Amino acid sequence: MKPNYNYKNVAETYLFSNIAKKVNAYLAENPEKSVLRLGIGDVTLPLAPAVIEAMHEAVDEMGKKETFKGYGPEQGYAFLRESIQAYYARRGVTLSTDEIFVSDGAKSDCGNILDLFGTENSVLVPDPVYPVYVDTNVMAGRKISYMQATKENGFLPMPDEALKADIIYLCSPNNPTGAAYSKAQLKEWVDFAIANNAVILYDAAYECFVTDDAARSIFEVEGARKCAIELCSFSKTAGFTGTRCGYTVVPEELVFDGMSLRKMWLRRQTTKFNGVSYIVQKGAAAVFTEAGEKQIQDNLAYYRENAKLIAACMDECGIAYTGGKNSPYIWLQCPSGMTSWEFFDYLLKEIQVVGTPGSGFGRNGEGFFRLTAFGSRETTIEACKRMKALLKK
Ligand code: MLT
Repeated sequence: MKPNYNYKNVAETYLFSNIAKKVNAYLAENPEKSVLRLGIGDVTLPLAPAVIEAMHEAVDEMGKKETFKGYGPEQGYAFLRESIQAYYARRGVTLSTDEIFVSDGAKSDCGNILDLFGTENSVLVPDPVYPVYVDTNVMAGRKISYMQATKENGFLPMPDEALKADIIYLCSPNNPTGAAYSKAQLKEWVDFAIANNAVILYDAAYECFVTDDAARSIFEVEGARKCAIELCSFSKTAGFTGTRCGYTVVPEELVFDGMSLRKMWLRRQTTKFNGVSYIVQKGAAAVFTEAGEKQIQDNLAYYRENAKLIAACMDECGIAYTGGKNSPYIWLQCPSGMTSWEFFDYLLKEIQVVGTPGSGFGRNGEGFFRLTAFGSRETTIEACKRMKALLKK
């Protein structure tokens, strides 16, 4: 047996596992300290009452012979796919339910979708970037090029004739920078992808945070059905990080060398995946009910307020940042020329605030740091208080 040698080319630990390990080591040495976690983008508010109610009902159904369910429909239950279809329709996007695939989250789909593409394809990712795009391709042995996302271009790189690739990753609103593409900017990407016979893998996991007229789905852009796959999730929208549910949209039009990516994805999923539990899909569908939507919006408003508090704290400290507007992330420049990990250690040791070092997202992330607005209000307020005391000049 020969192992997959490509694993030699990825960092030994995943970014967020590495951070958790460092924090645990610090706590083992300093058990009396209270650590405030604003690192991983994990939600803290409980599931919405409408979701819980739907899941309770589903549990009861599973306990009765007449309503018990075994394996579900392969792409997800029709009730959930129809709700997702209607959600897109409200934004003027027409999808067929055959193009919607329910999964256990955008992260898994983001890695699994690569089964559809030959390893000889070249890949283009922004730098900085959600590490999963890079690691999953490195594990498969694909060649990766980077497009520069910098302060100068507002962390929104645009197509460049000198940087062509077969698979292009876009994440908007962006993790980690919080920058969001406008529809006009996405149109340039769509035209570029079509002209170069490329596929865009569009990560829309943070679309629910868009508050201005930035795009929420790449399918709001004309032509996108010919070149894009969209990955989305209930994690950030409805607090499903621990419950697990997401969906991927693969349009009919994606046919390359006579092969339909939609049909291939169906084939892949039916072979390697047995679906998301009925109970979880019931809970996810409740997100789109009137009561569910209202409750979800209340939760999002809570996180947006946290983002404002962190942004105000940065303003007071004189620290430059982006994000926090269409995004739950504040992307800040480390003060005093510190590197990302130096700043991480400094905050952890001095005030026990945990964030995510920007360099963990790529070379251009060096010297930057990400704070999340997904903490509780108490944690956010206390972290801001401690940061002000430490960083205010
Ligand atoms: C993050 O902190 O970047 C996210 O929580 C990671 C994820 O969604 O998998």
